[in-house]
Amino acid sequence: MSDERESIHGEWSGSFSFFLAASGAAVGLGNIWKFPYVVGENGGGAFILFYILFLFLIGLPLMMSEVLVGRRGRQSPVNSFYILASEDQQSRRWAWLGGISAITGFLILSYYSVVAGEVMAYTVRAATGSFTNQSADGIQSIYNDFRANPEGLLAWHTIFMVITCIIVARGVRHGLEKTVKLILPVIILILIAMVAYSVSTGSFIEGASYLVDFDFKKLFFSRDKTGIYLLNSHGEYQFTFKGILAAMGHAFFTLSIGVGVMIVFGSYLARNTSITRVCVSVALVDTIIALLAGLAIFPIVFSYELSVTQGPGLVFTTLPIAFGTMSYGNLIGSVFFLLLFLAALTSAIALIEPAVTWLIEKKKITRVQATIKAGVACWALGIVSIFSLSGATLRQLIYNLGSYLDISDIDIRHRIFDLTGFQILDGLITLVILPLTGLLIAVFVGWIMKPESSGAELNCGKAFQYRIWQIVVRYVAPALILIIFIAGLIEWVSKYLLYQPVL
Ligand code: TRP
Repeated sequence: MSDERESIHGEWSGSFSFFLAASGAAVGLGNIWKFPYVVGENGGGAFILFYILFLFLIGLPLMMSEVLVGRRGRQSPVNSFYILASEDQQSRRWAWLGGISAITGFLILSYYSVVAGEVMAYTVRAATGSFTNQSADGIQSIYNDFRANPEGLLAWHTIFMVITCIIVARGVRHGLEKTVKLILPVIILILIAMVAYSVSTGSFIEGASYLVDFDFKKLFFSRDKTGIYLLNSHGEYQFTFKGILAAMGHAFFTLSIGVGVMIVFGSYLARNTSITRVCVSVALVDTIIALLAGLAIFPIVFSYELSVTQGPGLVFTTLPIAFGTMSYGNLIGSVFFLLLFLAALTSAIALIEPAVTWLIEKKKITRVQATIKAGVACWALGIVSIFSLSGATLRQLIYNLGSYLDISDIDIRHRIFDLTGFQILDGLITLVILPLTGLLIAVFVGWIMKPESSGAELNCGKAFQYRIWQIVVRYVAPALILIIFIAGLIEWVSKYLLYQPVL
């Protein structure tokens, strides 16, 4: 049955193109900007251990599940779920899952593009020597000034969205495939060159051991803003799920799961490719690149005696100090930010693709029209994140709006008001929506689809291999996701939503 279906959007010229596009989606700001700082915040190797565990125990089987759904359905996530559910006589409401996924990708792109725009601006700054001989305070104020300037952020966000949309509008082969074929090798070459440079800094061993140094205390126990461990009323350390939840959330984020991308890319994939093999390769490439990014960044940070626990500012406020001091710093710094930009670009084209295919199918419009519609909407939504980057928390925004709004009903003692719109969007997506869509996908392929359908599509032929995958998507992945998700949610609610005196 499924053999007769064809994708109306086009097909990859071969399975290697799928591999490149999926790796391009997976390798992004998550690997180079986010991974090093979450590792730094959550105890180095201890975090990485859990991250790799989740990556291969939950992430990989779910990625295979998404590709399977797409290749069998051959349409946008919405219609692929619809077709597969109908085929196996199940509720067509499963199409909703495809819709939620596509919308999530779109939401991610709205803030991803803002950060990518910032990366572009930093490429130019590094090249023109803005960081040369700047003190840490100088670099911090460059960063603060940039983030406090909405027009600048908006301009870069606009440029990034336009580039993304031009590529996507050109179609599967001429746009997506050509771009990843060109960019992915460049990303790998730049990373290897950066690691080679790091080896020469003299702090390579220190940086590398940070990646394998298991600081479980940092992973499992709460600290306050200044890094001091919190004690409960019995004088014991306070256990927290935050680190483990972050490891799971990042495993989803980095493999690009839960937003329908792998479904769409799977729908352009030829029938005779082994889904298992190509997905394992993508997960490996993604992990290796994240580790290489750590190996490139940590030694530089250590050799200039800077701190790795800077949070999201790590690459924007810490690394430029090093770039400003080292010889050839302008060159090395701009090449580093160029690397981030290229990695972000191959992810951005993937993030918008599910929404574009859905629009084409639903509204019967051309790819160019669909891309413009999705692109403009995403661009507009990005403005929310632009205002957050200046650091304005919800509390400040409400105070500012106080004279226009009647805010007497809002109890702003909750800590949630100390967050910015960007933090809420990112937190909601990585910690809530991605795990939940992942859980539902596992339920769909494990329990709703008939084993004959999923088995035929995974075409591993080997009953044993299929059985392992089935046990993981039926029991292991859903159980793990649920436990971690619920524990994390309880903690989050008690921290941010229950009454707590604002310190
Ligand atoms: N994986 C990307 C990264 O590591 C980010 C991302 C999350 C993504 N979900 C996605 C990219 C979906 C493309 C499609 O930066």
